[in-house]
Amino acid sequence: MNHPTLPEPARRRHVRLAVLGTSAVLLGGLAFAPVAFSYAAPPKHPAAEVHKPSPVPDRVILTPTTTPATSQKVTWRAEATAEFAQAEILAAPRALGQVAPPAGAVTKVQAQASTPVNTTLGYASTYHTVEFTGLKPATRYTYRVGDGTNWSEWHDFTTAAGKFEPFSFIYYGDAQNYIDSAVPRVFRNAFADRPQAKMIVNAGDLINSANSEEEWGQWYKAAGFIDSQINNLSIPGNHEYSGGLSSFWRPQFPYPDNGPGNPELKQTVYYIDYQGVRFIGLDSNHQGNAALMAAQTAWLEKVLKDNPNKWTVVTFHHPVYSTTGTRNNPQVRDQWGPLLEKYGVDLVLQGHDHSYGRGNLVSARKSITVHNGVAYVVSVSGGKMYALNNGENWTGNGAEVRSSSQNTQLYQLIDVAGDQIRFEARYANGEHHDGFLIRKNARGERTVNELRTPENTVGEQVTVDKTEASRWDKVTATAYGYDPGERVRVHLRETRGKEAVAQHGGHGRDGVPLGEARADELGRLSYTFRMPPWVRRGSTHLVYLSSENQKITSPLITVTR
Ligand SMILES: [Fe+2]
Ligand SMILES: [Fe+2]
Repeated sequence: MNHPTLPEPARRRHVRLAVLGTSAVLLGGLAFAPVAFSYAAPPKHPAAEVHKPSPVPDRVILTPTTTPATSQKVTWRAEATAEFAQAEILAAPRALGQVAPPAGAVTKVQAQASTPVNTTLGYASTYHTVEFTGLKPATRYTYRVGDGTNWSEWHDFTTAAGKFEPFSFIYYGDAQNYIDSAVPRVFRNAFADRPQAKMIVNAGDLINSANSEEEWGQWYKAAGFIDSQINNLSIPGNHEYSGGLSSFWRPQFPYPDNGPGNPELKQTVYYIDYQGVRFIGLDSNHQGNAALMAAQTAWLEKVLKDNPNKWTVVTFHHPVYSTTGTRNNPQVRDQWGPLLEKYGVDLVLQGHDHSYGRGNLVSARKSITVHNGVAYVVSVSGGKMYALNNGENWTGNGAEVRSSSQNTQLYQLIDVAGDQIRFEARYANGEHHDGFLIRKNARGERTVNELRTPENTVGEQVTVDKTEASRWDKVTATAYGYDPGERVRVHLRETRGKEAVAQHGGHGRDGVPLGEARADELGRLSYTFRMPPWVRRGSTHLVYLSSENQKITSPLITVTR
């Protein structure tokens, strides 16, 4: 091989590598041609080149306003001056390109903010924000951003409905690390599973170094066009702070200024009402600052108390119950925990611990598969992992873990309906990890039900109000986990030990039929009966509840006389 352009030392190195390459191929038994190893590794392409801005827009991202049915904010990055930064919007047309929109169909909107952020890569990234107003609810629009000459491609989004409508949203724990390698598939697989999602919730630590232009560039590339058509609702983690809030935060995330009013909490503490769900974002990075914690706690109570929405989702970074190591957030737990329970928050979405944990207060437990309290979740979307510690921070503080996972990247799909929220966590490869259904009735009563599996729909799950009874005594059996209105057959089964014995009146192994009942709208069942006159003193019986979805039994009832 002849490389006349290589200087002398490089040519010598090249020959040595070629020899090494050959031996590696023989040892490894791989079918690579030795020539593949014969050049020095190419240099890393400089981040300043990968991420440098141009007049062509990139990093296009939607953030919600307080009136998402009639207005929408979009932010992008481009080398453009404030006077030229602008957007165009029109009702989503059937075609563009060769087909010009009808005269007057396109509205031009001037940027309301253009903020240069000095970056670590030697240039400024300038973020521009446009707010579209006067939009129609539940309507698809098409927009582009630019400077009047250099435009983005056209993007579509749909405004929120003006009232409750079912919708889906996505939630991520910390992306933070391996954003350019391991994170993109998580974001894209989540989008593939819920392409019509209306919101993406990030519970902090989106990136690792608060002011790293390279990492923010990677974060936007990971989601690609997804952020240009789905609203992003993020709150900061500790990694968005470095001597203060990241200088990127407010220019790129112009969230509503409806928080407690402290300048430090502007656009990190806010709420959005979206189609019947109140999303509340808090900044848990101020646990060492009593004033900023107190301000958030008072504000949280106000926005929970005065909440017309059926559903409430709260997100912040540091978990009420930690999944990892010796971590502990007593300020968050003591100040916010009681309010989350008191006002019946449905989902608390958190990050920080780089593992997965989901659970509830023990006092809310109703059965093996059901509780009626707040569902607390910790998750991670990025590639940095911490080990679980047997849920000690949960059990040590009156809570219990119902599902956990370590060394897994996850995304969460949340489907909101009128009478239920379905939550599912999936691994990076799309496989199911965990899930539950929150049901809520018109009185605000709630059950949080594990998704059914062959294992959790059998066994001893019925409770009875007495385990000793005489003939004619009233016994009430209670069970959970049904579909609303599910029909349930009630049997009294005589047993020896736990085994069924020959049943009174020649009935089969199920037992003697006592009657039928229906689960209520939350999947709860309560059935009261009298112990029949034919039961013998000293005999043992159990209540067997049989339905389409569950076949479950009670503890033994011993007949006393
Ligand atoms: Fe983190
Ligand atoms: Fe963190």
